[in-house]
Amino acid sequence: MKFNIETNDLDKATHYCLVIGIFENNELTPTAKKLDKISKNYFSKLLKTGEMEGKTGQTLLLHHVPHIRAERVLLVGCGKNTPLTTHEYRKIVSSSIKALNTAKIKDALLCLTELTVCDRDLSWKVKQLVEVSFDALYQFNEFKSHKEFKPSLQQINLLIAEKNAAKSAETAIKQGLAIASGVEFTKNLANQPANIATPTYLADQAKQLAKQYKSIKVKVLEESDMKKLGMGAFLAVAKGSDQDAKLVCLEYKGTAKKQTPIALVGKGITFDTGGLSLKPADSMVGMKYDMCGAATVLGTLKTAAELKLPLHLVGILALAENMPSGKATRPEDIVTSLSGQTIEIMNTDAEGRLVLCDALTYVERYKPDVVIDIATLTGAVVIALGHHATGMLSNHQPLADELLAAGIESHDRAWQMPLWEEYQDQLKSPFADMSNVGGRTGGVITAACFLSRFAKKFHWAHLDAAGTAAMMMGNDHRYATGRPVPMLVQFLLNKSSSH
Ligand code: BES
Ligand code: MN
Ligand code: ZN
Repeated sequence: MKFNIETNDLDKATHYCLVIGIFENNELTPTAKKLDKISKNYFSKLLKTGEMEGKTGQTLLLHHVPHIRAERVLLVGCGKNTPLTTHEYRKIVSSSIKALNTAKIKDALLCLTELTVCDRDLSWKVKQLVEVSFDALYQFNEFKSHKEFKPSLQQINLLIAEKNAAKSAETAIKQGLAIASGVEFTKNLANQPANIATPTYLADQAKQLAKQYKSIKVKVLEESDMKKLGMGAFLAVAKGSDQDAKLVCLEYKGTAKKQTPIALVGKGITFDTGGLSLKPADSMVGMKYDMCGAATVLGTLKTAAELKLPLHLVGILALAENMPSGKATRPEDIVTSLSGQTIEIMNTDAEGRLVLCDALTYVERYKPDVVIDIATLTGAVVIALGHHATGMLSNHQPLADELLAAGIESHDRAWQMPLWEEYQDQLKSPFADMSNVGGRTGGVITAACFLSRFAKKFHWAHLDAAGTAAMMMGNDHRYATGRPVPMLVQFLLNKSSSH
């Protein structure tokens, strides 16, 4: 799908379909007003019939509107004639793109960036439009014998009135495309079933990425390497599985200047059965998505490389499968982490923090300035925040603020939760330095408290994406979202311009 900026006058446009916004109460957007004049009031007459109420996201496809050169006009409802929220704008774009595709239209001129969105400029509107368009047309049908038709849309043209804004709009398209490609990469990896997407498969994908982008280097630690290093917590998770665990270390260098790196650490449990603390059957569905943190790291690095961001990044993927077996770790087993701290594993289903704690200690050797881990870590975050906000906890408020801002900017938002020392007490064990679980209350926070004990040497933030990275809403309604790739990319874009 190609995107193109069109600064010609509307009546000179020669595209197959025009996409025009309509407000409620028969009010027209500026472009609709122009077309209404050209078509001798066709639109204002049509609206009086009540067929198009202008409700946000409602669409109506028109054929051969009098005196209009385009074959089709798609009307899209934009709600009341007041500035739109970010969510409304995204909904308008998404339903327009879906309607164009349903009508098998290949080439359209969208007149939607003229809409006013609260606190957002033209670049933002263009960038979001690109991202939302790809999202609207995404499908994962690799395993369907009868593949649905490929999206028909090939060219999306954006009408932009201010000619001198064309350049910044082009940059916005470029960024939008790079983000969309990282998001799509993450979604494709996440949607793979766990019999395909094993730790070995994901390590191979990381190697592929390093082949594709010369700026990315990759190194894979095997179980034997991890044993030598003393990663007792990580290996305890992998013990029950026939799949070999891997610790993948990627490095992206987009600048020759020496820079302390920003590290991204992803939880990559390729399937989470819970281990011997086995999950009930219904809760196990969706656990192929327990590697979304690792997939997010790969998608974010892909976008960074695509945009040639002038940064030094480290990406760590903690890849393992959590299975029960005669060799599996038992509840009450005690292990020694890479940091030397001992852990009593009270629940083998709290495995994410066990692979992450050793990955966090390992990342110290890169001397990072900032470390962000991304993990589908707790069911508790879904109860607390639902599916719209990623849980965020940090030991450094300026970093937390930067992530919150990047989330708002990209509309891939996080919500901060407290990391107060009072919660640390819940991790006490009578036999080891700590337990891997903190009881029924404050599950998101105690999970982060556990990780914080391995993140003392750097500024660190933890993103609990269990509610946002994938949606599990019934057997026929499960999908990966690619979140929080957009937030992380925005964070990195902001870092790039401040260096
Ligand atoms: N991968 C799960 C968390 C999860 C739950 C992700 C639902 C997505 C949807 C994690 O490994 C887990 O099992 N967490 C336990 C922790 C508990 C044992 C302390 C949980 O949330 O129940
Ligand atoms: Mn688990
Ligand atoms: Zn898990």
